[in-house]
Amino acid sequence: MATTIHPRVASLFTPITLGSLTLANRLVMAPMTRQHSPGGVPNEEVARYYRRRAEGGIGLIITEGTYIDHPAANGYENAPDFFGEQALAGWKRVVDEVHAAGAKIIPQLWHVGNERRPGMPHDLSVPGYGPMTIEEEGQVVVKGMSIDDIYDVIASYARAARDAERLGFDGLEIHAAHGYLLDTFLWSQTNQRDDEYGGSLENRLRLPVEVVRAMRAEVSDDFPIVLRFSQWKMSDYEAKIAETPDELGTILSALAEAGVDIFHASTRRFWEPAFEGSPDNLATWARELTGKPAITVGSIGLDKAFGPDQFTGKADPNAGRADIDTLIERMDAGAFDLVAVGRALLSDPDWPAKIRAGRFEDTIDFDRNALSNLVI
Ligand SMILES: Cc1cc2nc3c(=O)[nH]c(=O)nc-3n(C[C@H](O)[C@H](O)[C@H](O)COP(=O)(O)O)c2cc1C
Repeated sequence: MATTIHPRVASLFTPITLGSLTLANRLVMAPMTRQHSPGGVPNEEVARYYRRRAEGGIGLIITEGTYIDHPAANGYENAPDFFGEQALAGWKRVVDEVHAAGAKIIPQLWHVGNERRPGMPHDLSVPGYGPMTIEEEGQVVVKGMSIDDIYDVIASYARAARDAERLGFDGLEIHAAHGYLLDTFLWSQTNQRDDEYGGSLENRLRLPVEVVRAMRAEVSDDFPIVLRFSQWKMSDYEAKIAETPDELGTILSALAEAGVDIFHASTRRFWEPAFEGSPDNLATWARELTGKPAITVGSIGLDKAFGPDQFTGKADPNAGRADIDTLIERMDAGAFDLVAVGRALLSDPDWPAKIRAGRFEDTIDFDRNALSNLVI
């Protein structure tokens, strides 16, 4: 990009190298489900959508959640698969287009766990799979996973890791947030199994740790593994996997030891403290507890927080406004290494280029049209 960098935002546009991943700047596109891949195959339009964000100056793209090769991984129509010849060929085209436009890209690998219900593709008869059985109106809608089911899922994640590297992705992200499979194993409320995969924190950690280890074993030593986690779920914004910094340290240290290189702390407002008694946000805690680099996220470039009104784009009266200076001040103080931007990039693919040039007033605000326009 030819324009000079506005001095106010210079540190956001400092390159960074994290293992084998060298990024032109600190801006990351947050993973956002689009449901525009008919039959699970990311088509040319999907490649164009990501290429457009790469051309807008983002350093790293994390793709929308994409399903690992397991019959119950899928929970939403027309979201993309990460298995099968056609879907993988589609992803290869996405990778090539994004690279041609000068950005890096990693897939977000996903198993929806308890969020699946029978009636979803590909096999409509398959229920959700989760830590424990869930019945609705006398019908099993989520199957409590057997040990064999657990081994199958671990093997599926491992295959996805191998394919990610083979297709030329620059790393991978494991979706362990927001109430999906790995998050439900971590959370005490959803995981009261009485075997080695449930109950105590050590046992609840076992599946996520084994998934990371299996994926690590399938890829080169320096192939970056990012893990996204959260202290909230789609169904409950107060649901926490760790009540204290100590518990968070236990979880994240085990995952780091298993092979995670970068933590992606999913919060709805990046400026909010993670625990009482400290101003540090969740990414800062992750960084301090593990010594690993961290990505922060949440309402960057917006004055509307990610809440029940996410699909309308209405202002949230509880949301504070955090300007870009607060973000940069914190990053410069070592609070996080990378900054993920979600909704701002939907409405304005050129958001990074405009910020870089200091054209702050020219950015296009997020609104509901940006969601209906997820196709462009
Ligand atoms: C339409 C939409 C789809 C999303 N899909 C995903 C997803 O597939 N995986 C994920 O981890 N987060 C998903 N998120 C959450 C975003 O990655 C991000 O954390 C959230 O939007 C907050 O960032 P923002 O305030 O910059 O938008 C989604 C958000 C939106 C708005």
